[in-house]
Formats: sequence, structure tokens, C-alpha cells
Amino acid sequence: MVTREHGVIAVFGATGQQGGAVVDALLAREARVRALVRTPTSDRAQALAARGVEPAVVRIDAPASTVAALEAVDAFYFMTPEANSLEEVEEEVRVGTALVDAAAAARVPHVVFNSAFGADRERGVPHHDSKHRIEEYLKRSGLRATMVRPAAFMENFATVMAPSLEDGTIVLRLPLPDDVVLKMISIEDIGKVAAAILLGTADVPGGAVAVVGDEPTGPQIAAVFGRRAGLPSRYEALPLSVLGNDLDKAMFRQFAEASASPSDIAAVRAIEPAVRDLTEWIRSTGWTAPADRVRS
Ligand SMILES: NC(=O)c1ccc[n+]([C@@H]2O[C@H](COP(=O)([O-])OP(=O)(O)OC[C@H]3O[C@@H](n4cnc5c(N)ncnc54)[C@H](OP(=O)(O)O)[C@@H]3O)[C@@H](O)[C@H]2O)c1
Repeated sequence: MVTREHGVIAVFGATGQQGGAVVDALLAREARVRALVRTPTSDRAQALAARGVEPAVVRIDAPASTVAALEAVDAFYFMTPEANSLEEVEEEVRVGTALVDAAAAARVPHVVFNSAFGADRERGVPHHDSKHRIEEYLKRSGLRATMVRPAAFMENFATVMAPSLEDGTIVLRLPLPDDVVLKMISIEDIGKVAAAILLGTADVPGGAVAVVGDEPTGPQIAAVFGRRAGLPSRYEALPLSVLGNDLDKAMFRQFAEASASPSDIAAVRAIEPAVRDLTEWIRSTGWTAPADRVRS
């Protein structure tokens, strides 16, 4: 157990999904946490403060605010905001590089960047290549840095990628060919992995880890949900044209390339043994089949 003798860990994005999971994992290990927030009056920021998280108000356009927020911290975690267009990709890089500059100015001893799976090099996926650019910028800063590169969120199966129940069969449709794996991880587990690295209780050989908890194909994913529901399952591969934007099309195209290289899930569990596969994640969420869409 890490105690409060450790210094402060700063977290950017603490009111969001991944940063929030990092805070949860840090607090579970009794770490002291400072959240870099832009709106301290927001419900989420207030909820963090109520749990003992120290707020520090930052404005990306006012570098002195971020440098001050990073003074005397032991380690700093940051993620970068979602980008759905090429303009937002540039904004993502602007936020990421500004945070690196602030960390360098504050001489932060260890920076953990929440990047994305595959961002070790440019791959023609704009919202992943942005993270590669931030990784390179961070490496050039001379700071001690660790790249945490999460795969797709399992939580997407509770929202945009949720299976349906049709005439007694669990049906999953994704824009992914039958034989391509989808590398995935739960957001809660990303938080646990990042926390272990921030607190120095885990070594990351090479300074980067691809955070993957499972890598089933579409038919295998459908089967996992089917087994959970006690029902037959079916997978239907959709064309890329169902995706709304070009960034996502590029990303799903890239999944096929990534499918050829098996992930080192054992290396992830060496950092955080509790990392779950899809079956375990579904069980832990208490997932039950949705209402049946019986065709007339
Ligand atoms: N979806 C996936 O499967 C997947 C997989 C791997 C990686 N990713 C990547 O994960 C990232 C999104 O992570 P997430 O889902 O954890 O994000 P999120 O839930 O949308 O949270 C974004 C966080 O960033 C903060 N923020 C944004 N702009 C800010 C600014 N200018 N100043 C201060 N704070 C700011 C937000 O604060 P407020 O509360 O003030 O808004 C919030 O805390 C994206 O880069 C995406 O590409 C996604």
C-alpha cells in the first residue's frame, strides 16, 4: 500500500473517463492527488474535491497557471482531449505540447502520457498520429517519461458498440472483418495501470506499454456476450462506410494491420494483475441482454 508519505500526483483530465479512473486508482492506494481542472465549480470537479482531491485551476492559454499547478509534484499524468476532425487534432497536439512545456518548466520528475495503442509511430490515423507527435515532443523534452498506450475502451460495448437482442439471438455489428481482432481494455484498468506507474510500483521496460486486456475477433466478442446471456450469438461485419467520420474510418482500417501482431497481455498484467479480459469485464459490469427486438 502506498501511503501519504508519497508526494502529490498531478492529474490532467481528472473530470473525464480515463483521468477519473486514474484518480480512483490513486485514491484507492491512498495517494495524494492534485487535479488540474479548468472549471473548479463543475459538478465533477466538486465531487473530486469532496473526495480529498486538491483542485488546481489551469488554463492551457495561460502557461503560468499550469506550471504553478505542477510545482513540487512527484509525478504528472495527462491525457489529451478527443479529436473528431483535423482541426481538433491540431488542438489536441496544442494541449499536449503545452502540458509538456509546463511539466518541463516545473521540472516534474516523472511524466506519464496517456497516448493510444499504436502511437509508437505514425500510421495514417490522425487522432493517433497526434499522440505520436506528443510522445515525440515529450521525449525531446528530456523529462523522464512513460507512455501508456490504451487500446479501444471495453466501455464502448455499453454505448456505441452495444450488441442487440434480435429474435432471441445476441447480434453484434461492427465495421470490422470477421477475422480481425479488436484490441481492448477497460477504462478502470487503464487507471490502475497508470496509477501503478505513477506511484513507481511497476516497471515499464522501454518506457512504454501497450495497454491491452483482450483481443477477440468480432464473432468471438459476440460469442462472449451470447454466453453471458445464455443465448445464441451472431456477428455481422459492416462496411467502413457506416462510420461517420474519416478519422474513425482510418482507425478501423488500421485495426486490420494491428491484428497481425499479438499483444503482450502478460506484460500488462505484470504491471496490474487485476487487468480483465472481456468476459471478466462483462461479468463485473453486471451486463444483461437488452430488450428483444422481435421482428413481426
Ligand atoms: N474511445 C476509445 O476507445 C479510446 C481508446 C484509446 C484512446 N482514446 C483517446 O482518449 C482520449 C479521450 O479520453 P477520455 O475519454 O478519458 O476523455 P473525456 O472523458 O472526454 O475527458 C476529457 C478531459 O479533459 C479535460 N479537458 C479537455 N480540454 C481541456 C482544457 N482545455 N483544459 C483543461 N481540461 C481539459 C476535460 O475537462 P472538463 O471536465 O472541464 O471538460 C476532461 O476532464 C482521446 O484522446 C481519445 O483519442 C480513446
